[in-house]
Amino acid sequence: MRPLKTLDRVLSKAGFGSRTEARSWIGAGRVSVNGKVIQSPDHWVDLGRDKVTLDGKPVKPGKKVYLLLYKPKGYLTTYKDPEGRPTVYDLLGEVEQYVVPVGRLDLDTSGLLLLTNDTQFAERIMNPDFKVTKTYQVKARGVLTEEQVQRLRDGVELSDGPTRPASVTRLRNSDNSTFLEITITEGRNRQVRRMLEAVDSKVRKLVRTAIGPIRIEKLGVGKIRELTAAEVAMLRG
Ligand code: URA
Repeated sequence: MRPLKTLDRVLSKAGFGSRTEARSWIGAGRVSVNGKVIQSPDHWVDLGRDKVTLDGKPVKPGKKVYLLLYKPKGYLTTYKDPEGRPTVYDLLGEVEQYVVPVGRLDLDTSGLLLLTNDTQFAERIMNPDFKVTKTYQVKARGVLTEEQVQRLRDGVELSDGPTRPASVTRLRNSDNSTFLEITITEGRNRQVRRMLEAVDSKVRKLVRTAIGPIRIEKLGVGKIRELTAAEVAMLRG
């Protein structure tokens, strides 16, 4: 006998997200079974026989996908924007499986973004307990004093608590800006921007150049590549 499962369970089991998330996608009409949009999460399906798609992409159990995107500035890290602005999904045209971004980059931030359908992997990268590093190149307003840079290193007070010690290198100064490389082990909302504000400066440009040991290297802006098995293993620690 073939295993029948409810549609929300099938999506969640295939590594797409929680059942609650799956139910909202189904309700929004993003899920089809054998070419027909199904809006009831309790619809019974058999993945061995039925063809299930999310946003037109096939849902296959078990196949894990790990992608690295160089997000350009001006793209949202969400699926759809009510205002019609471009999102990272506009850059994923040829990707077969449905993937979700691992954390977020602000609209005005560019650089490395991981996308995957492996929820456990995503959890690990985002969970501050695992201390996966994120490295940014920052152009900050004004020529920062050594004391301001040291405060960034030591940790600054933000509205959601102090930041952990960070690795901060001054790359160079220009007339009225400072170029820094900052590596943090957390990933709080707008963290780098808020850190610079806490030392009376402001981010003028922000690029994420590395996640853990994965560096941006030759990936072009707006381009995407699969992680190698070795890279996935390194990120898993
Ligand atoms: N810190 C920020 O302030 N913004 C980002 O997009 C990423 C890290």
